[in-house]
Amino acid sequence: MAFVLPERDIAALETRVQHALRTAGHAELPVLGFGEVTLVLRLDTAQGSFACKRLPVFPSYDSFRRHESLVEEYVQRLEKAGVRVAATRLWHTRLPSGRVVGYCVQEALDGDRLCSRLLRTESGAWAGDFYTRFLALVEGAVTPKVGLDAQASNWMDLDGELVYLDVTTPLLRDTRGRERLDVRLFFTSLPWILRDVVRLSRTRAIFDKFYEPRGVVLDFLGNLHKERVAHLVPDFLARSEGRFLPPVTSEEVAACYREDARMWEVLQALKRADRFWHRRIRRRTYPFLLPPRVHR
Ligand SMILES: Nc1ncnc2c1ncn2[C@@H]1O[C@H](COP(=O)(O)OP(=O)(O)O)[C@@H](O)[C@H]1O
Ligand SMILES: [Mg+2]
Repeated sequence: MAFVLPERDIAALETRVQHALRTAGHAELPVLGFGEVTLVLRLDTAQGSFACKRLPVFPSYDSFRRHESLVEEYVQRLEKAGVRVAATRLWHTRLPSGRVVGYCVQEALDGDRLCSRLLRTESGAWAGDFYTRFLALVEGAVTPKVGLDAQASNWMDLDGELVYLDVTTPLLRDTRGRERLDVRLFFTSLPWILRDVVRLSRTRAIFDKFYEPRGVVLDFLGNLHKERVAHLVPDFLARSEGRFLPPVTSEEVAACYREDARMWEVLQALKRADRFWHRRIRRRTYPFLLPPRVHR
């Protein structure tokens, strides 16, 4: 946690975000990158550039604090298991209603070093070496209590070391195998029609794969289809030989990707519908920044 939060600059960014949400003017926000569910904003300040990830609005300060300590614990446990994590700090501000807006803030790292990009631009030899290092990290870190969403867009390769970025939703489970994350809060970005369905029946199934190395690797490999580097799959599978039981096959990878793509497509479509409903029908502010449409 090696940097000083640029408090006033983040506050100014949040003011712009609130304005953008009210006016649906996202186009003016400086976007650094995006994941499946969030936009990552870029903040340039006199103290350097930062990546700012806006969290769902917390109902209270206590609930924000719980999330903050969960993120801190997650980072510590990953680092203890040998995974270097981008220095991360949480920022918050109280709304007049008593609710709390939070951001996960990191130093902006060099986007050219994002592994999903390097898999496209570097040689097959680099990719093979990356995969070997990646596999060792996953096998060393993932347990039934510590999960990892290890897709290529969550890693940077900096000075020969893989650095993990995606800690906004800590994947930690308690001894009874329940998510310690306030899943309900993070699902508030889902359209209301889906919330109960997802919460009640699917949570465990959706998250299970992140808590065992085989599932994490399968998900990573499936995602190579989305990143348009599926040609790397056979080499990576050869390098995984003997590591997993039952062995991972390319058919399984493709099936995993199709299933995942379908789920995210449905979710994205429903979110857009929900946003339309908020803005056009109810004439209210839709409270989330959605990433642009991803071509699958
Ligand atoms: N610290 C950072 N520096 C530079 N770019 C970043 C940083 N963190 C995230 N990004 C960019 O934003 C994208 C999404 O960030 P991530 O933390 O993985 O959020 P999500 O949970 O939405 O996947 C990354 O794939 C990357 O392109
Ligand atoms: Mg991500």
